[in-house]
Amino acid sequence: MEVRVVTEGPVMQIRIDRPDKKNAITVAMYAAMADALEQAAADDAIRVVTIAGSRDIFTAGNDLKDFQQARPKGPDMPVFRFLRAISGCPKVIIAGVSGAAVGIGTTMLLHCDLVLAAPEASFLMPFVDLGLVPEAASSLLLPRLMGRQAAARHLILGEPFDAATALHYGLVTEIVEADRLDERMRAMADRIAAKPPEAVRLTKQLLTSPESTVAERIALEGSLFEERLRSAETAQALAAFFARGK
Ligand code: COA
Repeated sequence: MEVRVVTEGPVMQIRIDRPDKKNAITVAMYAAMADALEQAAADDAIRVVTIAGSRDIFTAGNDLKDFQQARPKGPDMPVFRFLRAISGCPKVIIAGVSGAAVGIGTTMLLHCDLVLAAPEASFLMPFVDLGLVPEAASSLLLPRLMGRQAAARHLILGEPFDAATALHYGLVTEIVEADRLDERMRAMADRIAAKPPEAVRLTKQLLTSPESTVAERIALEGSLFEERLRSAETAQALAAFFARGK
């Protein structure tokens, strides 16, 4: 299987594994990743999903042979199922990028909560050079993240950028040596999985919810905060604080 999915306790690990084709993603691979993310969304026991590729390449993007095939269009296509599943996933998603992340390899990161990258990682969105347009809402999210003029540099000029630049843009959370990438992703996933589940879920929901005014957001957070103050999770965390050193 060219997408390997392993679930260990609260962590689902998805690995893109088609090294002979530089991890290019086929229709079947989108379907497998969509299935995994849908399963993670539905399973209360899964708290965190990690997505990784190989050491020398994250993914060369959409399989270009698949682009040549005339396929049925529409929202049920596996690529759209994958994009809906990753962008709407209620669980925390951590990506680990080593090597090149091309096309959807970069744009999928816009839907991950935390992104680790090896110092040698590179990011490239060559849509225009292929006669295509951006996807995965990158034409909306990239300008929001890095500003319109920087987004044009990467979406119109198609210039690649490196891990340090991705960190500067905020697309990458942390740079980690390639050798330690898996270990660091797992440690981060375990840390998150040990946190109060509902507080994590609601915080991700707030971080990914649509634009609103500051006043609206303060009100929304306020009502959730009130509810949380009465939750068992908060009672337990406060009790643990006061029991320190006793
Ligand atoms: N779709 C299908 N096959 C791909 C592919 C893709 N996106 N990217 C690489 N491959 C295949 C190559 O055709 C080649 O297959 P072959 O051994 O049967 O000839 C194999 O993977 C190795 O690729 P190669 O180009 O020789 O590796 P490289 O290390 O020199 O370069 C890349 C790696 C990623 C820079 C280069 O393969 C590339 O630019 N790929 C296309 C990326 C792209 O445009 N993606 C679409 C974005 S929308």
